Amino acid sequence: MEKRFSEGFFWGGALAANQCEGAWDVDGRGPSVDDHVTGGSFERPREITAAIDPQAFYPNHDGIDFYRRYEEDIALFAEMGFTMLRLSISWSRIFPNGDDAEPNEAGLAFYDRVFECCREHGIEPIVTLSHYEMPWSLAERYNGWASREVIDCFVRYCSTVFARYRDKVHWWLTFNEINNGASDHGNLLSTSLVRGFEGPVSELKRTPQERYQALHHQLVASALAVRLAHEKYPQFKIGNMDCFILSYPATCDPADVLANQAEMRRSNWFCSDVQVRGHYPSYARRYFRENGIELHMEPGDLADLAAGTVDFYTLSYYMSNIVGTHGDLEMAQGNMTFGGKNPYLPATEWGWQIDPAGLRFALNEIYDRYEIPIMIVENGMGARDEVSEDGLVHDPYRIDYLRRHVEAMREAVDDGVDLIGYTWWGPIDIVSAGTGELAKRYGFIYVDKHDDGTGTLARSRKDSFYAYQRIIASNGADLS
Ligand code: BG6
Repeated sequence: MEKRFSEGFFWGGALAANQCEGAWDVDGRGPSVDDHVTGGSFERPREITAAIDPQAFYPNHDGIDFYRRYEEDIALFAEMGFTMLRLSISWSRIFPNGDDAEPNEAGLAFYDRVFECCREHGIEPIVTLSHYEMPWSLAERYNGWASREVIDCFVRYCSTVFARYRDKVHWWLTFNEINNGASDHGNLLSTSLVRGFEGPVSELKRTPQERYQALHHQLVASALAVRLAHEKYPQFKIGNMDCFILSYPATCDPADVLANQAEMRRSNWFCSDVQVRGHYPSYARRYFRENGIELHMEPGDLADLAAGTVDFYTLSYYMSNIVGTHGDLEMAQGNMTFGGKNPYLPATEWGWQIDPAGLRFALNEIYDRYEIPIMIVENGMGARDEVSEDGLVHDPYRIDYLRRHVEAMREAVDDGVDLIGYTWWGPIDIVSAGTGELAKRYGFIYVDKHDDGTGTLARSRKDSFYAYQRIIASNGADLS
């Protein structure tokens, strides 16, 4: 059988509002949690500040100014041949405090323009309702998703944007990488459990009880949003979004295999088991007991979870790790999830292990488990690009990463996986979520903006721009 993608396979890129839009305090927008986080680097963690410190640098405040330059950027995406663009709506652009009496019309109007611009270019928008941000006011007053009150605020926000964009947006995702809320690395961006904390993000620790309770509230909120979409807007398709960090057992010692199974469940399967199947998985009972977790649920929560199962499964895929029990693992890096180094894999400068074959493996595992359509809504490589003497960025490393992952996807499709789309992470350079750097670039389009705040913001095409253009034009066949 020929290895090819279906007709109508979506090719595109993915962005998050807080990492690209900038314009953090204009046209009625309120601050979101990311606006209280300073820039960092590989060596130096970002810091959370309760007040905005005029001396500190907050990279999300300006992003890459997509707010004012979206027309130019979307035209460049169209030139590459995109048929899909993943974007998120900044909740605090719509409800500046999260629970305002009325939505902010200027914020709503901005996304009208963005979605119209996509459609004019024949690009289908897919929108993440919450991509690593909530209005700072909610985080401060309610300690983020620790409080049930936030569920109602979120559902009201969803019902507002569903109604407003019902003719412009048909593809939706609820929470970006919801599963990161299970670990301490998600306390800031996933679950916003930040009340009373200031300091390095790496020191923001919460108990398993706090984390899983917050996650329960998010899972219920997600299910309610899905149900609302299904009841009122039959034209919508709505999916989950998981950060899929594949892990392998470090050795064939059965103890390592079991440890890896536990890690795969905790880190990759737990949330999607709920969002796809509509109930907590059987292994949760023991995990909760052994980790001192007692979820507080309201009557109706389990029924809501059952009624709000998603239409398709989406994931981000960047890397893989290994898990072992022999205490001799050297650790690899990631932005939210960490595991052991795999001696068979190369890594990026930020230590993310590159594993295209793992993508094929992951897609097969996911499809075997759920048998619903899958979309890869993030995949990419952060690298330090140099502008050459000819004024261009030559990025063969990124092209190689892209090709090898598309090749792995093709194999997975041939294996029988129902893969319906692929959106590369950060098709234009944006602010890194993990480190807050601009130097960690993912784009096919270079943005002249630097971590010291300098730069003209001018956009230019890297070599990878043309490589992706060829891949899209050939529906994944031309990897030359
Ligand atoms: C994912 C997030 O975890 O990885 C994105 O959904 C993020 O928001 C991306 O930007 C890449 O991570 P980083 O830390 O290199 O920006």
